[in-house]
Formats: sequence, structure tokens, C-alpha cells
Amino acid sequence: MKNWQILVIVGCQWGDEGKGKFVDYFAKQADYIVRFQGGNNAGHTVVRQGKQFKFHLIPSGVLYPGKKLILGSGTIIDPKVLLNEIAQLKKQGIRPRLLISEKAHVILPIHIAVDALYDEIKGKLAAGSTKRGIAPCYGDKYLRRGIRMVDFINPQIFKKKLNLIYKIYQELYTAKINKMLIKKIQVYKEYNLYAQKLKPRVKNIEVELNQAINNKKKIIFETAMGMMLDIDHGSYPHTTSSNTTVGAVGTGAGIPPQKIDKVLGITKAYLSRVGVSPLPTEIKSQLAKQIRKAGAEYGTTTGRPRRIGWLDLTSVRLAKMINGLNSLAITKLDVLDGLAEIKICSHYIYQHKKFLLPPAQSEKLAQCQPVYKSFKGWKKFTAQEWQQMINQGYSSLPKKIKEYLNFIEEQIGLPIELISVGADRKQTIKVS
Ligand code: GDP
Ligand code: IMO
Ligand code: MG
Repeated sequence: MKNWQILVIVGCQWGDEGKGKFVDYFAKQADYIVRFQGGNNAGHTVVRQGKQFKFHLIPSGVLYPGKKLILGSGTIIDPKVLLNEIAQLKKQGIRPRLLISEKAHVILPIHIAVDALYDEIKGKLAAGSTKRGIAPCYGDKYLRRGIRMVDFINPQIFKKKLNLIYKIYQELYTAKINKMLIKKIQVYKEYNLYAQKLKPRVKNIEVELNQAINNKKKIIFETAMGMMLDIDHGSYPHTTSSNTTVGAVGTGAGIPPQKIDKVLGITKAYLSRVGVSPLPTEIKSQLAKQIRKAGAEYGTTTGRPRRIGWLDLTSVRLAKMINGLNSLAITKLDVLDGLAEIKICSHYIYQHKKFLLPPAQSEKLAQCQPVYKSFKGWKKFTAQEWQQMINQGYSSLPKKIKEYLNFIEEQIGLPIELISVGADRKQTIKVS
């Protein structure tokens, strides 16, 4: 296992790979856990002693007391959701040491309202967003009219910028969102209260993080979403609105990217997709229902049933290249228990040509034919049998499982460092 001072945990598929579990797994060793992109479209689950915690904005290392948690400049903050998440944790006796970059942007009710509207108008080109205001908020950021936390916590500047945003929306969209616009004064009053509550947490986190790096503190960067949802390298336009790959750490947290010394790629043993897009390895038979049930594949944020597919190595290969992955963690292997046949897509065929990586155009992706390697499934193990394998380590895994894992390693050209066979942090097998 490579030593690290700065570890980045990324998703290699369409999100929900189990990033939260592995952030928590490594958090014990870290001083800081940092989110650097995305907002509360993320849903990261951590299971501790049988109890399930779901985080949307708070970094998943929060269950270890005393860790410093940071939301970087590349994140977008729904203040209402964040305050609610903090309040829920406090009820359980957990007081997050959370700081927020003064440069992070704020999600307003108007963003949430137009998010749903955009999807409606975009029809088939819509990704089926989480309707959390993500695209409109990032949109306003890049149109240079967004509200940053540093402005949000200053009532006069907040008012001025809120007026500007509402004026723009009013002039552009009045007919559709009239009702929403009337609420401007109400929004100012309500959101100004949120701003004042969050004020003590809003800081120049770049200085703190860079000092921490110089002081040899250990930092985990927790990515939200996965490879195929990356705004540049994913299946555009069916993506999210941020970069979900390692390059975003530099911009989204304000640290020099060359300081990163390890990148771990989280890959589920099959795949899930919540939302709309081509999905070449999608399973359309009854089997999808069976895997969805066994893997509890329902959106952490929206509760939508996740679409299910066979593991598709094209996106994992892309994730290796774009992120410079050092190793893989394979999650949810236990979910495949008892299947007669398990398939892995090694590449695609499109118009008689071999594609090792997903094509850029989503129309093309929709026509790619997956080429599968088929494996004989293994038996259904009892909880005790899995526990025994966890205790005895990698060498005790059955040959069929090892063959399956070896194929992934060979195809991707990366070692599998960790295997996850249950939601709890203890249900993890170290390979080396
Ligand atoms: P994230 O968005 O990548 O953090 O993943 P999610 O938390 O949205 O989804 C992963 C789900 O699988 C969560 O409910 C986890 O508790 C659960 N999980 C993680 N690893 C495993 C595993 O190895 N086996 C099983 N059965 N569940 C797991
Ligand atoms: P985590 O961090 C899975 C998907 C949505 C939609 C598209 C755009 O838990 O892996 P958005 O609301 O971001 O504008 O939606 O991206 N999506 C996710 N899918 N896991 C996530 O996060 C996701 N975040 C966004 O379903 O297709
Ligand atoms: Mg998730």
C-alpha cells in the first residue's frame, strides 16, 4: 500500500461506487478531509457499527472525532441543507469541525426552481438531474454573477447580488417562474439568517490547507460523483456540472496538484446509474431487479431506483488515465453472490472498430456494443463465511473470485488494493 500524505479518492463509474465508505475507511489516518467539487447532489453513505449515515455536503470523515473538514472553493453550498446536516449530526452528539471556503458559491431557491425547468425543456438531452440546483448554480458561477460565501455572509453585498440574480432571471424567464420571483424579499430574510449562522465557518481555506501540507498533515480529498459524470470527460451532456476527476482538486481546494501523492479509484463490481444517459452494459432483464435489491441500489439523494449494469472497464480505463490512479478498490463484491454468470465488459465495438475508452459523443456511446468476458458465478456465502474470509485475508478468497479480480487488474493494468464485501468499514479485505 503506497504511503501518502495527500490521498484523493475518486469514483471510476457513474457515481455511488462506495466513495463514502472508503473516505471513512482512511479517515482515521487523516488530519483533514476535504470536498473540492459538487454540492448536495452527492449522497455518500457510511455505516458504523450497523448504523447508517448519509452525507450530502459534510465530508464523510466526520464520524472520526476531531478531524478538520473542509468544503473547498469548487464546491457549491445549499446553506439550508448544510445547516440541517450539521443540526442532524449535533443531535447525535457529533460536532463537525467544518470550514467553508469563502470562494464557494451559494445555491439559492431560484437555482433549484430552474433546475427542474431546464430538465423539462431539455427532454432527451437532460441527465435527469437531482434537482438540487447544481447546474444553474455552477452556470451562474461561470457567467460570473454567482454569490460566493464571502459575499453571502455580508448582508449588504448579499442583498445587492441577490437583487442582480433575481433581476437577470426575471428578465430572462418571467413567464415560467413568476411565482418564484415574487419571493425575493422572503428569500433574502430567510437566507440572511442562514448566512449569519454559517459565518464563523467561512474562511480562506487555501491558506490553511497549504500550511497543513507544509506541516506534513495528512489530507484526504473526497470526490463526489464518478468518472462518467465529469463535465469534460464524462458522457456530456448527461453529466453533472463539475469535474469529478483529480484535476479539480487543484482548483477546487486551492492546492498545487503536484502535492498529491496517491489516487485511489473506487469501482463497484457492477455498475449503477441514477439518471438518464446511454448505458451500454445496462441489464434489462429481471436480473437488474435482483441486483438492485441485493445492493440496495436506490439514490441516496433522491431515492430513485438506480439502473443496473455489468462492470464496464471502458470508464475505469478512462478513470485510470485522467486521474493517474495508483490502485483500485473494488466494492460490493458480496452483492454478486449466488449469480450463475457474472460478466465484465472489456471494450466496445462501434461500426466494426474496437473502443477501449468510451467515445466522447453520447449518441455514439448509445450505439456501442459491449464485448463481455463471462465468468462462472460463485455460491451465496453466509455472513459468517464472508467474515471468515475478511479475517483470513485475500488468500482465503475462492478461486472464482480471484479469477474475476485478476481479469480487472490485467485489463486496467492496476493493482486492486482493497476489496469491499459489505457496507461497514470493517467489511474490507486488504490485498497487500
Ligand atoms: P458514494 O456516493 O460513492 O459514496 O456511494 P453511495 O453511498 O451513494 O452508495 C454506495 C452504497 O453501497 C451505500 O449504501 C453503502 O453503504 C453501500 N456499500 C458500500 N460498500 C459496500 C459493499 O462492499 N457491499 C455492500 N453490500 N454495500 C456496500
Ligand atoms: P455521488 O457523489 C450518482 C447524476 C444525476 C444526473 C446527473 C446530473 O453520490 O456519487 P446534477 O443534479 O448533478 O445536475 O445531475 O448526474 N448525479 C449522480 N449520480 N451519484 C451522484 O453523486 C450523483 N450526482 C449527480 O442523477 O444524471
Ligand atoms: Mg452516492
